[in-house]
Amino acid sequence: MQNKLLITIIAIMLIWVHLPASSQVNMEDEPANLEGNKHCFDCHANKIYSYENEMTGRIDRKAMNPNFIYNPDDFYKGVHRHFSCTDCHSPDYETFPHQAELRLEEMYSCMDCHGGDPTYAQYHFDLIDDEFHKSVHSTKHDETFNCWMCHDPHSYRSMTRGNFKVSEIVTYHNNVCASCHDNPDHFQRISDSLKMPLEQIHSFLPNYKLHFSAVRCIECHTSVEDTMWVAHNILEKELAVKKCVECHSANTMLMSSLYKYQNIEARRNRGTLNAVFLNESYVIGANRNVYLNILSLVLFGMTILGIMIHVYFRIKSK
Ligand code: HEC
Ligand code: HEC
Ligand code: HEC
Ligand code: HEC
Ligand code: HEC
Ligand code: HEC
Ligand code: HEC
Repeated sequence: MQNKLLITIIAIMLIWVHLPASSQVNMEDEPANLEGNKHCFDCHANKIYSYENEMTGRIDRKAMNPNFIYNPDDFYKGVHRHFSCTDCHSPDYETFPHQAELRLEEMYSCMDCHGGDPTYAQYHFDLIDDEFHKSVHSTKHDETFNCWMCHDPHSYRSMTRGNFKVSEIVTYHNNVCASCHDNPDHFQRISDSLKMPLEQIHSFLPNYKLHFSAVRCIECHTSVEDTMWVAHNILEKELAVKKCVECHSANTMLMSSLYKYQNIEARRNRGTLNAVFLNESYVIGANRNVYLNILSLVLFGMTILGIMIHVYFRIKSK
């Protein structure tokens, strides 16, 4: 009887430790429209495309507009990997030359499909929409600055929900911002103003390259948000984090923003208890002592074991 009780307690603990942290986008299954999209990718994945010229009867070879070239690998790693191109674009694109007025087609917005849909509740679309409309990008610009500006419709991936290292998440996120802020061609789709390169703007940071490979832009440019995994309210530049101690201290703000993924990631891989004790990010660049961590884990394990043996014999001797 008591043994059963003990086994049940241990079983519950084991299950708890191994519970998955969150759902993930499944990348294993074959994309649903691989064949159908091939026709579009024949032209839109290559620098040179060819078609049969009905006027002359010849095969013409032309250069593709570089902004209209997409990498199929990236498309099929994205969140909309099961989509057909013509789920978002008009089916009239099947014919070439494309009709001129197709250029005027209105595109769906994220909220057209995801707004108020309980299936995607965990992503908090409606809250993100509100936050985005408070952000400088929205308040300083008209609707031309929309969600697609950062969420490339042909490659957007959900990094924070996948099994990615923090460094991979940082690189992906920062490239989204840099693709515009360090790329005048893209930037001028939105604004005629010219900005200094990011490295110059952030010259107050001692090691720009290291910082930008270790923290995200949004760490300093948004306020920390608990409900959302990715904060969307980009604040005015005057409100950006400039104080070094915000991060370089024992209670670094990164614990509640960037490193929360590390905690979740670790929980997914090693179980909740381990994650708490093996976390490597207590003080950035300071006491990263792996042996101390392991020692504390061993001590913790021995204490638990001691208590369990004690409890076991107490129950047994009754
Ligand atoms: C034979 C090559 C070819 C094929 C096949 C093709 N496209 Fe295009 N597409 C082009 C070229 C070239 C352009 C550049 C603008 C133009 O010529 O209309 C273009 C432009 C576009 C544009 C941008 C229009 C604009 O100016 O804003 C979209 C969207 C598009 N294609 C979607 C598709 C989709 C979806 C498919 C598959 C159903 C497809 N294309 C198949 C060659 C092709
Ligand atoms: C999830 C919806 C979605 C899917 C799926 C999709 N597109 Fe698009 N596409 C968009 C949106 C939105 C834009 C406009 C983006 C912008 O303004 O930056 C766009 C723009 C384009 C453009 C014009 C680029 C420009 O800068 O104007 C081309 C070409 C294009 N798509 C081709 C394709 C092809 C080929 C496929 C299939 C492999 C495809 N799209 C699948 C949503 C989608
Ligand atoms: C035309 C409708 C449509 C539009 C527009 C659209 N989505 Fe989606 N989205 C879907 C559908 C349907 C799925 C589910 C795909 C699947 O299960 O394979 C999905 C999947 C997702 C997922 C993964 C959800 C999961 O758990 O699998 C995310 C994240 C996402 N979309 C974000 C966005 C964002 C951000 C935008 C705008 C930039 C957007 N979507 C625009 C229809 C759309
Ligand atoms: C300034 C750039 C930017 C804009 C504008 C933007 N996003 Fe995002 N968004 C991102 C980045 C970067 C991510 C992180 C991608 C990842 O790792 O999941 C993200 C993540 C998300 C996610 C996934 C959050 C999660 O919990 O996993 C959703 C949903 C989303 N955005 C919706 C939207 C919607 C809806 C809009 C427009 C109202 C929008 N975004 C506008 C940059 C932007
Ligand atoms: C360590 C914190 C930190 C990080 C990380 C950071 N920024 Fe900043 N950023 C600042 C501060 C502080 C300012 C204000 C600087 C000033 O006014 O002198 C600023 C200013 C800016 C400005 C305004 C420039 C102007 O003068 O108009 C832009 C745009 C910007 N950052 C974009 C980015 C992007 C994009 C990234 C990621 C690639 C990024 N920042 C990462 C702290 C940061
Ligand atoms: C499609 C282009 C584009 C993308 C992507 C983009 N931005 Fe911006 N950003 C702009 C433009 C345009 C402005 C406004 C410049 C102006 O008019 O002064 C701006 C302004 C800013 C400012 C300065 C606000 C101020 O007070 O002047 C910051 C900070 C900033 N962006 C951060 C980011 C971050 C962080 C990301 C990524 C999450 C990002 N941006 C993605 C185009 C972009
Ligand atoms: C948004 C958080 C954040 C802010 C703000 C910040 N840092 Fe950092 N800093 C980091 C991270 C993360 C690293 C990388 C730590 C690592 O990989 O060892 C780092 C690395 C460094 C390094 C290199 C340490 C080494 O191991 O070589 C120096 C020096 C540094 N920061 C100084 C500063 C100074 C000075 C400021 C203020 C002007 C500042 N940082 C602001 C997060 C931040």
